[in-house]
Amino acid sequence: MCGIIGIASNKAVSSNIINSLKKLEYRGYDSAGLATLNKNEIDEKKCSGRVDQLEKMLFKNPSNGSIGIGHVRWATHGIPNVTNAHPHSTEIVSVVHNGIIENSDNLKKKLESKGIKFKSQTDTEVITLLITEQLKERQPLESVCNTLKQLKGSFALGIIFKNFKDIIIGARRGSPLAVGYSNNENYLGSDSYALKSMTNKISYLDDGDLCVLSKDKVEFYDLNKNKINKKIHILTNDQNVANKGDYKNFMSKEIFEQATTAKNCINEYTDSLKKDINIYNFPILPSNIKKITLIGCGTAYHSCLVARYWFEELTTIDVEIDIASEFRYRKLKFDTNNLYIFVSQSGETADTAAALDICNKNNMKTCSVVNSVESTIARNSNWVLPIHAGPEIGVASTKAFLGQMIVLFILCLKLAKVRKDIDHSTFKMNLSNLEKLPEAIEKSLKVENSIQLMAKEFLDAKGSMFLGRGLSFPIALEGALKLKELSYLHAEGYPAGEMKHGPLALIEEGLPVIVIAPKDKYFEKTLSNMQEVIARGGKILFITDHKKELINENIRFGIRMPSIGNLLSPIVLTIPLQLLAYHVALLKDCDIDKPRNLAKSVTVE
Ligand code: AGP
Repeated sequence: MCGIIGIASNKAVSSNIINSLKKLEYRGYDSAGLATLNKNEIDEKKCSGRVDQLEKMLFKNPSNGSIGIGHVRWATHGIPNVTNAHPHSTEIVSVVHNGIIENSDNLKKKLESKGIKFKSQTDTEVITLLITEQLKERQPLESVCNTLKQLKGSFALGIIFKNFKDIIIGARRGSPLAVGYSNNENYLGSDSYALKSMTNKISYLDDGDLCVLSKDKVEFYDLNKNKINKKIHILTNDQNVANKGDYKNFMSKEIFEQATTAKNCINEYTDSLKKDINIYNFPILPSNIKKITLIGCGTAYHSCLVARYWFEELTTIDVEIDIASEFRYRKLKFDTNNLYIFVSQSGETADTAAALDICNKNNMKTCSVVNSVESTIARNSNWVLPIHAGPEIGVASTKAFLGQMIVLFILCLKLAKVRKDIDHSTFKMNLSNLEKLPEAIEKSLKVENSIQLMAKEFLDAKGSMFLGRGLSFPIALEGALKLKELSYLHAEGYPAGEMKHGPLALIEEGLPVIVIAPKDKYFEKTLSNMQEVIARGGKILFITDHKKELINENIRFGIRMPSIGNLLSPIVLTIPLQLLAYHVALLKDCDIDKPRNLAKSVTVE
């Protein structure tokens, strides 16, 4: 999950490269670097840490070239230090790379056997040295094509050449890469988000494509140097391009704009006058759908887990869920009446994209639930259901998770209706609850002060447990994930009914246990699981939407949430858990928007 930018211009490019790298930092922030062609020399500058560090270097020692490449890194091979930072250059070529070269060790051995020396521990340097070898006898495009044919694994590349000072070559296999067009200036970037402040004209490379980009021309080729054409997309003018406004960080903004996110998403898909759902162009006739498989990673997978309960409850469709990195290696039985739904905020997650490719190769009908309709996963699906959440910058997903759940619920409700799996009154009741959701979310956000008090209970704890049953079980997993990724504290989400099968051994005096118990068919059972924890000294933080007076001396904190009907309770009950993780991370002075070791879009396996 690294970020790449390349700019060929008629003026100095370093400040635009820096600005683009700042937009790309959500893809990785272990190190940053750039290389420009300056008086026919490759001028490489790089540092460990954030783009701000690189910017300070440039203030002291400017780069003046009118063609250059830049990179922000999420380390895969080699520790995040300046030696391993990209670009990786020799005297005649400089390379930035996003992806993993799986046969880099073998290639490195071959190069070293020829006496070639390496400076870094990265797989990327292998690419640089292979191209350098090729350039001794060939032109840049042929040198790059010959090099790429030796590589196994994934790459998005940006490459500049000392002796060919007006071109940048880009290449893509498995990691996203886009081209942007402007006047006397053209761009290469990992995604349109990095380019949209400079242009709204974008082409996307597909796997196996290369581009040769200069300030006034862009040409596309396949790996055999045959010219190909690529469509130019005109990007939507996204008014709410991410900015923090008055918020301290993106995550708090994204948590507190969830009522608006819900409203926008619901409005996109429902007709409040006709009291219906505007989803029509199903890739499979709804009555023919035998099975739905929902696939995602991390938080997106949790939205799949929630949706499984909805499909089971409201439709007669068989539903399966899977983690994308597992799905892609299974021995799968395909059926043309199966609909495969891929959930991904970024639309670039490598495992999810690979799982989608497998379904496409087997001619399955695919649907993607994404936040970026320009993304790889969206472009490779038969059918796209955007979540309309606007750019989500905080690495920990909040409003996108909410949008994913809302879209999946709306899809489920529509399918249940058109297949006549539910009667009209059930449809109307659920649609009415959905229309009340934004208000319930707005009310839910008001528990922040209570949550801030709860947060203190975690600082010295050895770990914590999040428990729930039914629709609350995926929310327990999501709450634990949020706490882990934001505060770096151990936390485990578990089905409440499973505690007695082992994890109860973890319970000891004072251990925080968050019990998520909406007023549903599991409520009494969850209370008895909670008693098992109390009996062993666990400190209960109880989250419910039940009106009944439940708070007693054994419950350290009780948070009462707005009731929105059983099926939509997971969406409301997620909010206190997002706030909890946020406030624990604040107390621990963690980086809220860029937690350590993570990146927003996991574009490598
Ligand atoms: C969410 O808080 C995490 N940062 C992570 O689990 C994320 O949900 C996962 O990497 C999937 O990303 P995607 O939705 O962009 O595919």
